[in-house]
Amino acid sequence: MQPDSPYCTKASEITWQQDTPSSVEFDDSYWSQGDPTLEKQWVFPGQHQLPSRAQEADLVVLLELGFGFGHNFLQTVTLWETSGTTAQLHYIAVERSPPTLAALQRVHALTGTTAGKRLLAIYPLGLRAWHVVWFTDKIRLTLIFEDAQTALPKLDAKVDVFYLDGFKPSQNPELFNQFIFEGMRRLAQPGASASTYSVAGVVKQGLRAAGFKIEKRQGWGRKRELLFAEAPGNWRGQRLRRPSVQIIGAGIAGQSLAGSLNRFNIQPIILADPSHPGASSQPALNIYPQLSLQRDRQSEFSIAGCYFALHNQKGVQHRPLRWRSATPAKLQRMQRLCQLFPDDYLEQVGRDVIYHQAGIWQSLALAGLRDANVCQMIPSEGQMQLCNAAGHPLSKADVTMLAAGAGMHSLTSLALKNVRGQSIRIQSKQALPEFLTGDINITHLGGQNFLVGSTYELGSNDPQTRLVDTDRLMADLAQTLNHRDFTLTAPHAGIRTTFSDRVIGAGLLPAHTISTAMMAKPNAHLSGPAPACYALMGLGSHGATHAPLAAEAIVSALCGAPSPLPRDLTHLTRLDRF
Ligand SMILES: Cc1cc2nc3c(=O)[nH]c(=O)nc-3n(C[C@H](O)[C@H](O)[C@H](O)COP(=O)(O)OP(=O)(O)OC[C@H]3O[C@@H](n4cnc5c(N)ncnc54)[C@H](O)[C@@H]3O)c2cc1C
Ligand SMILES: C[S@@+](CC[C@H](N)C(=O)[O-])C[C@H]1O[C@@H](n2cnc3c(N)ncnc32)[C@H](O)[C@@H]1O
Repeated sequence: MQPDSPYCTKASEITWQQDTPSSVEFDDSYWSQGDPTLEKQWVFPGQHQLPSRAQEADLVVLLELGFGFGHNFLQTVTLWETSGTTAQLHYIAVERSPPTLAALQRVHALTGTTAGKRLLAIYPLGLRAWHVVWFTDKIRLTLIFEDAQTALPKLDAKVDVFYLDGFKPSQNPELFNQFIFEGMRRLAQPGASASTYSVAGVVKQGLRAAGFKIEKRQGWGRKRELLFAEAPGNWRGQRLRRPSVQIIGAGIAGQSLAGSLNRFNIQPIILADPSHPGASSQPALNIYPQLSLQRDRQSEFSIAGCYFALHNQKGVQHRPLRWRSATPAKLQRMQRLCQLFPDDYLEQVGRDVIYHQAGIWQSLALAGLRDANVCQMIPSEGQMQLCNAAGHPLSKADVTMLAAGAGMHSLTSLALKNVRGQSIRIQSKQALPEFLTGDINITHLGGQNFLVGSTYELGSNDPQTRLVDTDRLMADLAQTLNHRDFTLTAPHAGIRTTFSDRVIGAGLLPAHTISTAMMAKPNAHLSGPAPACYALMGLGSHGATHAPLAAEAIVSALCGAPSPLPRDLTHLTRLDRF
């Protein structure tokens, strides 16, 4: 891998004294000798009255600068879990030079705690990206692998508690400076608190100049003092908004929205048209990141989306994906891509390339699903009434989420292109590649069953399967395998939809883009403020990779939780961009 790849962080260079690590770059140890548990507990979670804050809030947002080995995080998880709170903890941590997994294993394998094991299981590779995972059903970790100076301006969060844990200020002016302190102040809730080991002048004066009230408190061990700071104002616990929600569509977009809503304790009504099962009814959808040779926002979204889908979405199985193509130009491009990523992410093996962070998604039965074709939307008393073709009411809710795939053509005026596709399910007694992409897709579905795809036909909206496509896929497979020793079980067709810029659409749907044919005139005496409509659409050929994270961003915005996306990526996918 190239040492200066724009996709990768610079791994922390560490020396060890027994089991205590020190950073070569910052000439400082990650903690004093021995077990860091009590020391970290005292300086960080112990200073912020987290259990009592949790009692007064639906969610507490904590921002740590310097995740390191995650000791502060694990201490906070333990405190949260033992406090018996039902509140959510949104733990956002920024880390510029993450220790390797091997270094983390060396430290946490010793403790053997459940939380430590979970951290090792979800610990991301050192890619410069935002990695979001529900660590428990109440704790969402957003692990931001980039410099705090670039990360803070992109954060969309209201922070209750800050842990400032970035080595000695004298060794690290990039973290302890006025830009960072001002950034913390911008994010701070009234009465938000911060703690740090250091009582150095630059920290005291800087936090004070940014508007924090500072206080020296008793330190731990050899450090006599620590610094505690508070933003002006009285702290009040944040509340989550939990409106009633209805979703139109039960494909990967609808299921992802429902999954995120469930995590925020909202049980939506889901309406789907059984006569149009949608593109997600393929027997399986592949998950893997869409990467580009020049780092751009789409590949950033895709890397973050892939991590989120693999770690949070129900119905997902991890599985390494093998890429293979007979076209030399495609192979060369993939070889160049491999040089930009660590081998445990993208690895060249002979003439193949392995996506190690990949998997498949298979549709699940959904709670709250109703069969219905939505043909009308009627605003009524701040809610939206959905009706069928005969004008009969189907459901009503405060918030409507449109996730109707190709059905979005009749719901909105936003211009989507259709791309028809077909795959085939086959049986083979001979072993076939388990999971292959490139010139042909092969996915093992279990037993002797495999899915083979896919065709790509721009502009067609014909949802029927076609013999000509089936024959072509059978011939392609025979050519790839060099034999015809397999039998067709079933063909599957679907319509993908995509925007002209090939970026997905996620967020609030501008009211003027709701189709006039759909939107019935509000009953004058019943109408009130326009009810909120969100949409998740234009997922193209990678819905399973991108929909879960986009849905989490929509639901976080709706509920008043921190955004799982940096501001520039929220901006990238917004629906008022056209
Ligand atoms: C052959 C083929 C292979 C593919 N392979 C992959 C792959 O490997 N990986 C991948 O990520 N993507 C793949 N895709 C793309 C993927 O299928 C789409 O990105 C994804 O399914 C889109 O999901 P969706 O939820 O937006 O829409 P859909 O899955 O189309 O779901 C739309 C939903 O809306 C409902 N609906 C529509 N209109 C109405 C209405 N008026 N009232 C009520 N309900 C309505 C439908 O009933 C359905 O439930 C493939 C697509 C095809 C065709
Ligand atoms: C003392 S360690 C943190 C220990 C950690 N909190 C724990 O509990 O294990 C300091 C961390 O700050 C990180 N760091 C230093 N400067 C940074 C910056 N500008 N942006 C983000 N992280 C930074 C270092 O890479 C290092 O991992």
